[in-house]
Amino acid sequence: MNKQIVVSGIRPTGFLHLGNYFGAVRNFVRMQEDFNCYFFIADIHSLTTHPTPRDLQSGVKQVLAEYLACGIDPEKATIFIQSDVPEVSELYTLLNMNAYLGELERTTSFKDKARQNPDNVNAGLLTYPVLMAADIIIHKAKYVPVGKDQEQNLEMARKFAKRFNHMYGKKVFPKPKPFTFDGGDMIKVPGLDGSGKMGKSEGNAINLFEDPKSIRQKVMRAVTDSGPTEMNQKKSEAVENLFTLLKIVSTPDSVAHFDALYNKCEIRYGDLKKHLAEEIIAYTSPIRDRIIEILEDDLYLAKVAKLGAEKARESASKTLQEVKEVIGFRKLF
Ligand code: TYM
Repeated sequence: MNKQIVVSGIRPTGFLHLGNYFGAVRNFVRMQEDFNCYFFIADIHSLTTHPTPRDLQSGVKQVLAEYLACGIDPEKATIFIQSDVPEVSELYTLLNMNAYLGELERTTSFKDKARQNPDNVNAGLLTYPVLMAADIIIHKAKYVPVGKDQEQNLEMARKFAKRFNHMYGKKVFPKPKPFTFDGGDMIKVPGLDGSGKMGKSEGNAINLFEDPKSIRQKVMRAVTDSGPTEMNQKKSEAVENLFTLLKIVSTPDSVAHFDALYNKCEIRYGDLKKHLAEEIIAYTSPIRDRIIEILEDDLYLAKVAKLGAEKARESASKTLQEVKEVIGFRKLF
């Protein structure tokens, strides 16, 4: 039986952090066994923030090495760089004709980014969800493993796929769905600053590549509160976030241990943080060692990217051909 198709990507804007790992990459690694997976580095998307050529290049290399270090196997999954597959940009152009200003302007991530950087509200930012839809539907993906923050972009991808099918009266694209392993909610990994999600630009992240000393420092500086004063008191957002991180990296036993101490008003946040830091280090250290090793091997990285580009182009060009025929482009001469 044919395997279901899966697509997902990450922008190469520096190092991968725990949010990227637990929200996306860990699922990539699990999914590669049973699905036909396309995992890419979204270098075109990253241009909305105008990286220098040097930063762009080192970012791409870093994410490629990190994908491999996390356990994505280029023999099992297709790993590629978005700009190596020009068919994606072509489909993006075509999809743009059926994407409307109003709906694009209403996207939360567009509004957030426009608010954060009022001097750089470029068209790429506005049509970001269209390019993302092109990434996904060009391989006719059924599933997209992403974190909670990408939920709306994924809804847009579904909308564009459906609209195209409807417009031409042909079922060219399946409707891509978010993927979670237990069928539960999409994941949101919190940051260390007491509010919101972990994110690179928020300055509240721990990277996979982070060294142990820096992990300890960051975790020890994480925001907490003055401690519970009543039995079974509701946790503040900052403390809840630390427990969420602990749940992600640690065992149920240690979560239950600190929970019980909290409920009895006997918790010492310093102890909780020390434990959390060591659990994070245990998780990231082996990955960090592999990243360092793989980054040394340019030849291997180039080989992986080349193989991935070939496989991704094969799939993308088939869909693009079909799309062009459906639209009505014909060879006249
Ligand atoms: P990006 O590069 O911001 O993030 C990559 C992946 O990491 C997840 N993630 C998180 N998950 C849980 N908690 C967090 N704190 C957290 N921070 C990041 C994101 O949900 C994402 O899965 N637009 C995308 C890249 C992209 C893409 C695509 C994804 C481009 N085309 C097609 C899927 C399919 C982005 O900027 O992700």
